[in-house]
Amino acid sequence: MALPFIVIAVDGGAASGKSSTSRALAARFNLLHVDTGAHYRTVALSLLKRGIDSPEAFEAAENDLLAHLELGTQIDGHEAAMSISGEVPASEAIRNDAVNAVVSRFAAIPAVRKFLFDYQRSQAKVAEENGFAGLIMDGRDIGSVIFPDADLRIFLTADVAARERRRAAEGIGDSIASRDKLDASRKTAPLACPEGATLIDSTFLNLEQVVDKISDMIREKLGQKA
Ligand code: CDP
Repeated sequence: MALPFIVIAVDGGAASGKSSTSRALAARFNLLHVDTGAHYRTVALSLLKRGIDSPEAFEAAENDLLAHLELGTQIDGHEAAMSISGEVPASEAIRNDAVNAVVSRFAAIPAVRKFLFDYQRSQAKVAEENGFAGLIMDGRDIGSVIFPDADLRIFLTADVAARERRRAAEGIGDSIASRDKLDASRKTAPLACPEGATLIDSTFLNLEQVVDKISDMIREKLGQKA
């Protein structure tokens, strides 16, 4: 008997390990992994390329600006990436100081979040159609807004110093505390552990321990659904 399709939401603050954890779980359970932070970063890069470098400039621009951005999905192994006009930007093009400096400000614009909502929901169908056993999506509002009906909703946290150490070990300077502050204080879809989600504090856990912990939860869920 085929196992049931499963949807897993993984949320958390900057550098909380969401993407690495989700990537490892995707490989372990044959899930499609969708990193929604990359969606916001890709949109931010697109806006920067059009000379829009602030929410004020966004407001002043033509109002169907986002409608011109044609979204698609490219799958590589267990990873799904969002393309704009058929192109997926290189990782270095969206993970750098210039994008870090503006992404949370663009992500706070309700029109930007609304623009990505249907696309992000549609990734469950993409996963199903491409033969994956489920979808694992990470971000800030997946368990609260995009998939409040997910089979599992995880919220990862770790103290700021631990997260800064992790980013530094990757050789990347990042505005972790300030992005968290912007993300948690915005009106639309603020960063918060949604009611009913499982909170995991990884300050004293390594990646493997977090992945094992969630793996147990996934196996239990699959057992219940079978
Ligand atoms: O650097 P880190 O992996 O923690 O961030 P990210 O997941 O790449 O997300 C970059 C930024 O996009 C965040 O700081 C948020 O402002 C925004 N974001 C969001 O608002 N909602 C999501 N579901 C994902 C990201």
